[in-house]
Amino acid sequence: MVSSIPVSEPCLVGRELELVSDAVRSGWVSSAGPYIDKFEKNFAAYHGVKHCVALANGTAALEVSLHAIGVKPGDEVIIPSFTIISLALAVLRLGAIPRLVDVDPDNWNLTAEGVQAALSDKTRAVIVVHGFGHPADMDPILELARVHDIKVIEDAAESIGSRYKGRLCGTMGDVGSFSLYANKLITTGEGGCITTNDDEIARKARGYINLYFGREERFSHEGLGYNFRMTNVQAALGCAQLEQIDYFAARKKQIGGWYRDALAGCDTVDFQATVGPVDHVYWMYCVVLRSHVEMTAMSAMAYLGERGIGTRNLFKGLHTQVPLQPYLVHTDKHFSVTERLYGRGFYVPSAVTLTKDNVMTVVDVLNELR
Ligand SMILES: Cc1ncc(COP(=O)(O)O)c(C=O)c1O
Repeated sequence: MVSSIPVSEPCLVGRELELVSDAVRSGWVSSAGPYIDKFEKNFAAYHGVKHCVALANGTAALEVSLHAIGVKPGDEVIIPSFTIISLALAVLRLGAIPRLVDVDPDNWNLTAEGVQAALSDKTRAVIVVHGFGHPADMDPILELARVHDIKVIEDAAESIGSRYKGRLCGTMGDVGSFSLYANKLITTGEGGCITTNDDEIARKARGYINLYFGREERFSHEGLGYNFRMTNVQAALGCAQLEQIDYFAARKKQIGGWYRDALAGCDTVDFQATVGPVDHVYWMYCVVLRSHVEMTAMSAMAYLGERGIGTRNLFKGLHTQVPLQPYLVHTDKHFSVTERLYGRGFYVPSAVTLTKDNVMTVVDVLNELR
């Protein structure tokens, strides 16, 4: 049966058509054009940071961030095992070494203790992911990074609009890295961006995403860059989405509240917890099967799918990814949290367009899992 409650869908009810049409009518359909500038200014203003650099996607944003903070071949970069492969790929593309650390059982993110145990004399940076809308416990990580002189990249792809002690995700480290894919809090279709208060990091990022064209003489290139540019048409979409960001965040939290309340009496699954002084935007509504439930995440997802409910499994640990095996370094022998979340967890419909009735339908079926 085709899903009748989709796991995710973009909400394009604002000025998306108007601004995208304007970009098309203007003829500025590649990466020059006023919407790029406008999107960058507005995204930076929302985050209260000096620079935003718009670019092709969240995977590229990570690579650009690593380049801009000066990661070199042979450096080690600490990353969580429970996340998208983009982090490991970005590290490897620069000739650096991804060092994996398991995540916290409560907030599903890296911890300062985990990072500390993985430090070596080659550690140059850590990429902290704020997973599924839940901010990582940043202060101890930032302090550890300061003491050991390592750079901090925050991957806020999944946590646009979430806050840690009042500070927006993506504004606390040296660089914030974002994806603007269609399932993110705001979207440009495909797309991403980085945020920073550091002029030099912003300058390097701009060079890297645009073939390092020369500033004095265009075709005297200043470095080995890429074409990771965003288009003006995508940025127009992003500008319309940014106008609605507070509404999207408020809706996500409201829907999260409906799920949390309705699941309070459910004995088949636990809902992702909210831990510490955080404002959790609930990018995706994640559940984990309780131990007495015999179904696995895969069989539970199939059961929901047969009843018209879209789901998506949680990340398979990077330590188990076959193509990464020749390149990984890790101190952990077991990634028990990552493995439990992968084997027992999944996320349920999470679009901002969900109604309360949709949520109740999903919860009724979650109650049937055995
Ligand atoms: C934490 C995180 N980082 C990076 C990415 C990659 O973003 P993109 O798909 O735009 O390349 C994702 C994708 O969802 C993600 O969840």
